[in-house]
Amino acid sequence: MNNFRNIWDIKNASKEKLTQHAFDYLVGGADDLRTFNRNIEAFQHFQIRPRRLIDVREVDTSIELFGKKYASPIYLSPVGFQGLFHPDGEIPSVKAAAAKSILSVASTVTSKSFSEICAAVDTPPWFQLYTTSDRIITARLLDQAQKNNCKTIVLTIDVPVPGNREKHIGILTGNMRTENALGNFKDGGADFDATLTWDFISWFRKNYDMNLLLKGIMTAEDAALALDHEVDGIIVSNHGGRQLESDLSTIEVLEEVSKTINGAIPILIDGGIRRGTDIFKALALGATAVGIGRPYIYGLAAEGQVGVEKVIDILQTELMRNMQLAGATSISKINKKHVREKRF
Ligand SMILES: Cc1cc2nc3c(=O)[nH]c(=O)nc-3n(C[C@H](O)[C@H](O)[C@H](O)COP(=O)(O)O)c2cc1C
Repeated sequence: MNNFRNIWDIKNASKEKLTQHAFDYLVGGADDLRTFNRNIEAFQHFQIRPRRLIDVREVDTSIELFGKKYASPIYLSPVGFQGLFHPDGEIPSVKAAAAKSILSVASTVTSKSFSEICAAVDTPPWFQLYTTSDRIITARLLDQAQKNNCKTIVLTIDVPVPGNREKHIGILTGNMRTENALGNFKDGGADFDATLTWDFISWFRKNYDMNLLLKGIMTAEDAALALDHEVDGIIVSNHGGRQLESDLSTIEVLEEVSKTINGAIPILIDGGIRRGTDIFKALALGATAVGIGRPYIYGLAAEGQVGVEKVIDILQTELMRNMQLAGATSISKINKKHVREKRF
């Protein structure tokens, strides 16, 4: 067992465990990786404004989402095909999230079925939905989620067609099978849903009684439409820079989105989170919860469930220390005045 100091140490350890193909699939993104890089680098353009002389011996990082309490605002974003990174697929990740009392979201394209994943933990994770142009398949996936007592659906809206991930060509065959109702998910385009529009929401509401979040909101305009359509929450995300390239980083758009939402529904965010300070800045700019994708998969590949727990612990420890250093004793006390955009 290794003593990792930070996410970068765990990333290095995962590289040693994975085949070059699997590692490339994990760290890769669209085109020349400019959005992927921007997600990480943009955090440097926001600086923290600390408050002093506050008793910070105790800090409370708990949050509540849809009536459920979590120990931390950190959550595990949906990552597909975890069987590429660990023989037990998604099971170690979901167990690690449960052990740390944090939220996790299972992808549509999991290596283990959603039922198997739910059987491994007391409370089912949220289910991330990829639609196909065939509503019967979508209904089958949602029925499976409902049957497993899942209460919240995350509809991913940034994949009308696959992104241009040049390093992934040739990997996405064979072992990229999901055990969910979708059957074999092709990366060649056939199973992606270019027909998905806002109409989906009324169809969903007519047929299902579960919370619905939209994952992939990147503008104030779409945040306003999300409110008009009365979704239960949104996730500011650009798919970790794996879809459109050259869009903004998620942290840059958070403020405009959060102004539009104005506290009406929860805003989650993911993309480029690698440090506790990144989480702190996202919370200050209006996020309710902050997702990680690649970082927990580094942990999964390096050491299975223990590795995912180490990733959560590292980020949680960093967040708590940053809250103490910045003088915020609970998540609700972190506010807009705790950050400022860099002016030089
Ligand atoms: C290997 C990999 C697989 C992913 N699979 C999915 C998926 O199945 N569904 C989805 O909505 N997002 C998927 N994502 C995107 C993540 O949910 C998340 O938006 C992104 O990883 C956040 O950026 P980060 O990796 O910099 O933390 C995937 C990301 C990666 C790296």
